[in-house]
Amino acid sequence: MTTTAVSSPVTCTSAMLSAVDTDLLVVPWFEGEGPGAVPELDRSTSGEVARALASKEFAARPYDLFITSVTDRGWRPRRVALIGAGRRAVFGSDLARKFATAVGLNARQRWIERVAFVLRADAAGATPLNELAQAVAEGLTLSEFDAGSYKTDDPPPARPPAWTVAVSGATDDEFARASEAVARGRLLGECSNLARELANEPGNTLTPREFARRSEALAIEGGISVEILDEEQIARLGMGLLLGVARGSSEPPRVIVFRHNPPGAPAGPMLGLVGKGITFDTGGISIKAAEGMERMKDDMAGGAAVACAMRAIGLLKAPIRVVGVVPATENMPGSRALKPGDVLKSASGKTVEVINTDAEGRLVLGDGLWYARQLGATHLVDVATLTGAAVVALGKITSGLFGSQGWVDQVERVANRAGDRVWPLPLFDEYRDQIKSEIADFTNTGGRAAGSITAAMFLKEFTGGLPWAHLDIAGTAWADEAKPYLPKGPSGVAVRTLAELAFTSHDWKSEDKS
Ligand code: BES
Ligand code: MN
Ligand code: ZN
Repeated sequence: MTTTAVSSPVTCTSAMLSAVDTDLLVVPWFEGEGPGAVPELDRSTSGEVARALASKEFAARPYDLFITSVTDRGWRPRRVALIGAGRRAVFGSDLARKFATAVGLNARQRWIERVAFVLRADAAGATPLNELAQAVAEGLTLSEFDAGSYKTDDPPPARPPAWTVAVSGATDDEFARASEAVARGRLLGECSNLARELANEPGNTLTPREFARRSEALAIEGGISVEILDEEQIARLGMGLLLGVARGSSEPPRVIVFRHNPPGAPAGPMLGLVGKGITFDTGGISIKAAEGMERMKDDMAGGAAVACAMRAIGLLKAPIRVVGVVPATENMPGSRALKPGDVLKSASGKTVEVINTDAEGRLVLGDGLWYARQLGATHLVDVATLTGAAVVALGKITSGLFGSQGWVDQVERVANRAGDRVWPLPLFDEYRDQIKSEIADFTNTGGRAAGSITAAMFLKEFTGGLPWAHLDIAGTAWADEAKPYLPKGPSGVAVRTLAELAFTSHDWKSEDKS
C-alpha cells in the first residue's frame, strides 16, 4: 500500500520574492519584527503586513499563520503567508523544518496547489544556508504523509502542493549548493515517509515475510543489495534468541540483510545498522494488557528506519560500506511459545534466561547485533521501540541514546542536525548486576528500576566491544497527540539520523570502544 502520493520534486529558486511563481509565498516572521523586516511584503499587500502587526492580529508566535492577498499586479505570488517563527535567537534548521511541515500541512488542508517557502537566516547567520534549505525541503516533504490509507468513505487525500524553496538573493554558488541541499532534503523526507507507511501498516498485512518483501523492494530501488534469510538459514546461523521469540507464532521469522558496497569504498570503517522488526508484539506468554495493544503494530519502526535509511544511503551514494540487519518476527503466545524460565542460546554463544517474554526486542536484537559484526561492521547503531521505561524517562519527544562514549557523541551530533531529538543515558557497570541469572549468562529483564538502561546493558553483551550506539525510540516512533509539525501516528524517527551518519565517517575515531 502506497499512501504517500508520488510527488514532483521540490524546486529551488533564487528569484526575487515578486518573481516567485507560486500561489502562496510563505515567509517566516520573527517576534518583534516590524513591517520593515521584509519591506516588499508590506508594499505588495497594500500595507496588510503593517496593519496585522500593529493590530496584533499577527504576533509572530511560533506556528501563527497570517494569510493575505497580494495586490501588486507586478507580483507573481497570489498570496502571502507569514508563519510565526518565534524568537530569532533560537531559530535554526530544527525549527525551520518544523515550520515547513506546519505550513505544508496547513496548505494541504486548504487545497493550495503551489507553495513557496522563503528561507530566512538565524540571528547570527550561524546555520549554513544549505542546511536550512535541506531542513525546509525535509519539512515540506514530511507534510505529505497521509495515515488514512484504508479509509473508504473519505475523499482521497489532496495531491500535495508543488513545493518551492526560495533563496532569494543567493549568489550562483549559494544557489547551486542550496539546490543540491533541497534535493537531498526531499529524498530524506520521502524515505522518512516510507518508514512511516511501514510503521502504520497493520500487523495482519505486515507480517515478517511481507515486511521483508517491502523492505527489499524499497532498498533495491536505492541500489542496495538485499538478502532475506528464512527460518532454515536463521537456524543454521544459530540465532536461538530470534527463533525463541518466533516460536509462539505460526508466521515464520525473517532476517532482512541490506548491503551498501560502493565501488572504491575503503575496507573500513563499515557502519552496521540494526533495527528491531517485531511486526506485532502481544507480549507473548507474558501477555500485554488489552488496552492500547493495537499500537504494538509499530514495534518494527526501528527496522523500518533501518530499511528506509539504507534506501537513502544507496540513493545518496554514501562513500562507505554499510550493512543493515533487521530481525523480523511476531511476538505471539502460541502453544509452542517461549515460556518464562526458558533458557535460550544466542548466535554469539551466550545464554539467556527468559524472565519475561515481553522483553523480546532485546532478544532479537542480540542476534542481530552479532550478525552485523559477522558481516564486518566496525561501528554499530541499533534502533528499537524497546522499553516503556524510555517513555517514562523521556516522554514522547526524545529518544534514549546509550552506548560507547565518543561514538554516542557522534550519533548525538548527527541526530541534532537531522531533527531527531536524542538524549544520552548512562551504562555504568553497576547496572549489569540487575540482569544476573542463577542459571544462564544473564536474564532478559532487569526489574522496574532503570528499565531502559538494563535493556541497553543486555544489548551491550552482543556488541563485542565495538563502538556501538542504541536508540530507544519507544516514545518517539508514534505521536499520540497531533502537534503543528507532526500529526498523530508514525513519526519516521531515526531515518534521517541513520542515513546522515553514513556521510560523517571522516569524523569517526576508531578508539570509541563500548
Ligand atoms: N515493544 C515494547 C516496548 C514499548 C512499550 C514500545 C510501549 C512502545 C510503547 C517492548 O517489547 C516491551 O514490551 N518492553 C517491556 C520490557 C519489560 C517486560 C522488561 C516493557 O517496556 O514493558
Ligand atoms: Mn514486548
Ligand atoms: Zn516489543
